[in-house]
Amino acid sequence: MATTIAKAAADATAVTHAARIEHVSKSFPAPGTPGGQQLVLDDITLDVAPGEFVTLLGASGCGKSTLLNLLAGLDLPSAGSIDTDGRPALMFQEHALFPWLTAGKNIELALKLRGIAKAERRQEAERLLELVRLQGAHRKRVHELSGGMRQRVALARALAQDSRLLLMDEPFAALDAITRDVLHDELTRIWRETGLSVLFVTHNVREAVKLAQRVVLLSSRPGRLAREWNVGIPQPRRIEDSAVAELSVEITEELRREIRRHGQH
Ligand SMILES: Nc1ncnc2c1ncn2[C@@H]1O[C@H](COP(=O)(O)OP(=O)(O)O)[C@@H](O)[C@H]1O
Ligand SMILES: [Mg+2]
Repeated sequence: MATTIAKAAADATAVTHAARIEHVSKSFPAPGTPGGQQLVLDDITLDVAPGEFVTLLGASGCGKSTLLNLLAGLDLPSAGSIDTDGRPALMFQEHALFPWLTAGKNIELALKLRGIAKAERRQEAERLLELVRLQGAHRKRVHELSGGMRQRVALARALAQDSRLLLMDEPFAALDAITRDVLHDELTRIWRETGLSVLFVTHNVREAVKLAQRVVLLSSRPGRLAREWNVGIPQPRRIEDSAVAELSVEITEELRREIRRHGQH
């Protein structure tokens, strides 16, 4: 009996989604038109399941960052509702590390904000640096690190928040192709090890296919959900795998059609 009640209680509180976006639209004031509005996102409905890795793919300016900002609670939707399982962690193209702190102290700061006791912070920061394969970098200053290493620290800092949902906005777009490829593998490994849910924004089709369990294509002006693909290719994947290449071709064609349809670019 007690077990039944406990189970029912657990079911009632079971998390069904890491993120839920329901009929979300977002408008901004249109530049040059007093009182006018520019519709950027139009009626977006999308769920990210617990532990799922979704990539959100679309041309520049289609509203990807706007949608992530809404999920992060940095802005409010004009219509519709947003719900996330706890407060998400964020990672951007710019590492946004504090340059006056060492790599380790940047991570320790995130731990401090989470309420981790001082005595435990150092060890936890070391563990996170190890997770992103930067063991020994604790005392390094940001300017001493390469672009790829900075993004590793930024990832460790995002993980330090212990969020269940990680929002990533083109985090590897400024890196060279080889470094990006290595970081894809690291991210896939970390995602599998931690069971995190990830919503990863990119305009790079191959990147979207390499990483995701599900690729969601956003159309432009306004951003609408155009199509989605479940990616059944076994992980870990290589960017040059023929299955990755084939699906990328199919998605690129769809993306081109979307761009042509809107007469942009
Ligand atoms: N705070 C804002 N105020 C006005 N317009 C904005 C704002 N943020 C984004 N936009 C507009 O919304 C559109 C989508 O931008 P964004 O979400 O950054 O696209 P993406 O990340 O897909 O490149 C662009 O036309 C951009 O100019
Ligand atoms: Mg953007």
